[in-house]
Amino acid sequence: MIHLDSVSWRRARKDPAPILSRLSFSVPQGGFRWLLGPSGAGKSSLLSLLHVETLPSAGRMVVLGQPVDDEQKRGTFVMLRRRIGMIHQDFRLMPGLSVADNIALPLRLQNRPEDEIRDEIRAILKWVGLGTYHDVPVEHLSGGEQQRTAIARAIIHRPGLILADEPTNALEESQAHRLLDMFAELSAMGATVIVATHNEALVRRLPRPALFLDRGHLVSEDSPLS
Ligand SMILES: Nc1ncnc2c1ncn2[C@@H]1O[C@H](COP(=O)(O)OP(=O)(O)O)[C@@H](O)[C@H]1O
Ligand SMILES: [Mg+2]
Repeated sequence: MIHLDSVSWRRARKDPAPILSRLSFSVPQGGFRWLLGPSGAGKSSLLSLLHVETLPSAGRMVVLGQPVDDEQKRGTFVMLRRRIGMIHQDFRLMPGLSVADNIALPLRLQNRPEDEIRDEIRAILKWVGLGTYHDVPVEHLSGGEQQRTAIARAIIHRPGLILADEPTNALEESQAHRLLDMFAELSAMGATVIVATHNEALVRRLPRPALFLDRGHLVSEDSPLS
């Protein structure tokens, strides 16, 4: 589960105004939330915070049941981050590695046997429609193919928390719908899922509660569309 209690975040200590201001909300394990709000509202910043790439400047935060507000415990956050599947807006694939080796990263960090990894990779590549891309270096991919690789990498180890930043930007409509169906399925199976999007049609297709940010403030916790 996720719990934020009056969490603020400044990019730098001396910044006059926080990027995120006194956010308080909870998402139970298995919950699905849309993350909505205009450009610059702080959606990507909040996802980075939930991915424990940075720590709150003030307030208390719990991610997957673990408190993450103590700088002293920074060492334990590496393990926590491995239980989170993050789809960055800019994909953040590892250049120089193939599609398969990018997707295998979370499994290799878990020291899973290579024959098991091979089977998992084959299945997920097929699912994301990249069945013939196993050995292709990621820098040869189109935007949509990179996005599908990033999606596969984020979910292959069945993380307890999935964070997705505009994950359908580069996808065809039918692919976006499949991804949405899968997010709904993963959340029904117990993963917490938070998806930032601008795509109102997508939100209408899967009516779920929303966190609505505006200029770093949480202004509503209901879906404006449902
Ligand atoms: N690299 C950066 N350096 C300085 N300010 C940034 C940077 N990235 C984003 N910001 C600022 O942080 C705020 C929140 O941005 P962001 O979290 O990216 O919002 P969103 O994802 O909702 O568009 C905005 O005011 C934006 O201008
Ligand atoms: Mg953003």
